[in-house]
Amino acid sequence: MLLMNGPGLRNDEHKDIDTFKLCMAESGFQIKDFLERSSDKVPKFATATCAAGAAAGSFVVPPLRPDYLSELSPASLLAPGFVRSRTVLAEEKGETSSQPAAGARIIDGKSVAAQIRAEIRSQVDDLKSQHGTTPGLAVVLVGNRTDSSTYVRMKKRAADEVGFYSVDRTFPESVTEDQLLACVHELNTDPKVHGILVQLPLPQHINEARVLEAIQVDKDVDGFSAQNIGNLCLRGGKPPLALPCTPAGCIELLQRSEIEVSGKEAVVIGRSNIVGMPVAHLLQSMDATVTVCHSRSKDLAAHVRRADIVIAAIGRAEMVPGDWIKPGATVIDVGVNSKPAPESKKGYKLCGDVDFDGAVKVAGAITPVPGGVGPMTIAMLLKNTVNLARHAQGLPRLPLRRKATGT
Ligand code: GUN
Repeated sequence: MLLMNGPGLRNDEHKDIDTFKLCMAESGFQIKDFLERSSDKVPKFATATCAAGAAAGSFVVPPLRPDYLSELSPASLLAPGFVRSRTVLAEEKGETSSQPAAGARIIDGKSVAAQIRAEIRSQVDDLKSQHGTTPGLAVVLVGNRTDSSTYVRMKKRAADEVGFYSVDRTFPESVTEDQLLACVHELNTDPKVHGILVQLPLPQHINEARVLEAIQVDKDVDGFSAQNIGNLCLRGGKPPLALPCTPAGCIELLQRSEIEVSGKEAVVIGRSNIVGMPVAHLLQSMDATVTVCHSRSKDLAAHVRRADIVIAAIGRAEMVPGDWIKPGATVIDVGVNSKPAPESKKGYKLCGDVDFDGAVKVAGAITPVPGGVGPMTIAMLLKNTVNLARHAQGLPRLPLRRKATGT
């Protein structure tokens, strides 16, 4: 039987043609043309041309049998992020594909991030072979917070996997501000380092703003500097050299999942410098009407209930119940929290800021935790590093967001 893979399926899943067509339709792709063909390189394969594709308009979905992949056009790299359709979810729950479960499309951040990392890997190869430069990322970690150590370990592993030059600087909790500033100054002058990341939060006795300000703007891989944030907020400002990674990851998920932002009501819960504030400006730059809610907001439920897009970034386990979600809305859950789970080995499990089980029944699309925004943060860090390396070489940067269209 001829098997296919594409939008609506995980990267490693293959379905018969009828199921594949259904998955694509459920994922919002209209098949314009579907051809079964053969060639001397690939004995029998199928391609589908879709009306709703990547930026270019239409694209070809190749059958992703691993042995075929290398032979086919790189169009698969242009395909929007793979999302698991209701059909696939229904099958996973033991239901037959003719009785699809009602509920949201799951936006699979893990596979979108894997796709982006593959794109980055080829850009790194190109920078090395064509321009003789290797993107370099320095990561500074202070203290022994488990969450920070885990994030830093994951960031370093991802950097190694795409072929970056890596620098680690680790300090005890007792480090002085002057020692940290000296470290940042040294990294600023290292020509092999294109991006400097100081993992936050820093201990109480360190002035975080002062340390971040010491990072040279053209090495500000987190996009946290006043200049990068200022350019992000300005209408008609210069493109920032880098965008804060988690907000950029949220936007990339929306774009690669073909979710319309222009003209939509977006509600951002949380106003942190790392997530809430920049993601609100990014959504506004894409012509959404944005409300930012925070700890002093009155009637949070009423705000969330009218949102077409909810970005939850408050850091409180399952604070947003499913019945706050407007039917068909898109939910991007940035929270990474733990909740008691006596049945699991560890005694706890990860959860987001939104009650997933409740929200999945009403939302149109939703990110899971884990496996949603988390992997995207790291993918965006890699993209920012490549962009700063390209900038250092005088090369054009990869676009960070779609242009706003309105006035
Ligand atoms: N701590 C939590 N998220 C982030 C991030 O995106 N960048 C840095 N530097 N620290 C963080």
